[in-house]
Amino acid sequence: MIVLKNKKELGIMREAGKISARALKLAGEAVEPGVSTKQIDDIVRKYIISQGAKPSFLGYNNYPASACISLNSEVIHGIPSSSRILKSGDIVSIDVGAEFNNYHGDNAWTFACGDISKENQDLLNITRESLYQAIKISQINNRIGDISHTVEQYVESRGYSVVRDFVGHGIGTHLHEEPSVPNYGKPGHGARLCAGMTIAIEPMINIGTHEVKILDDDWTVVTRDNKNSAHFEHTIAITENGPVILTDPS
Ligand code: MF3
Ligand code: CO
Repeated sequence: MIVLKNKKELGIMREAGKISARALKLAGEAVEPGVSTKQIDDIVRKYIISQGAKPSFLGYNNYPASACISLNSEVIHGIPSSSRILKSGDIVSIDVGAEFNNYHGDNAWTFACGDISKENQDLLNITRESLYQAIKISQINNRIGDISHTVEQYVESRGYSVVRDFVGHGIGTHLHEEPSVPNYGKPGHGARLCAGMTIAIEPMINIGTHEVKILDDDWTVVTRDNKNSAHFEHTIAITENGPVILTDPS
């Protein structure tokens, strides 16, 4: 069942989204050589709590931290650690969620640490743009498949591959709600978009194979060929006036 949100609920989700986005922004500003991923997680947790919100991920399915921080060939769900030290050239995917007044915001961004290669910069640019193209198509009466196809077509036509084992999702009083929002699919298929739907769109895009595996920590998702991956995510609302990005820091 897809739960639609009314104006008041969307107002709360905007607050949750703003807190999530500001936490992610602070995390990104902390990315520099020599910093541990645990230090960044601490910044995220403290900021979210300071705003009267709760880190959505902490304790979710026993996840042990507030942010997921995934480096280079890690796709998603990297667990922050004091022994993981960022170095120049790394690409750093940070995923942050906050729960405020019972509603969640969820967003992610891949940041450059110091100077990164052109290959990595291109990956970041293409993945970020695929998200914004997907948001643009998120209009009433379009379908989930139009979002999925937009991401797939945008990145595959440029030689990149789409992770298929993990998908975007509806979001609201639960971090994960219906519908699933895959980053691959057929235009004109899937649920019809309507006013009050709130979804997290989150392309996970690889330079090499789309295939991934989960490490022995039972969380970290990495590419099978060890080539790099990027992840960008926004929580959006579908409205009469078009898509609204809820995870906007401003
Ligand atoms: N943004 C991710 C998602 O949509 C974060 C969940 S990770 C977990 O599922 F740690 F909370 F499990
Ligand atoms: Co998400």
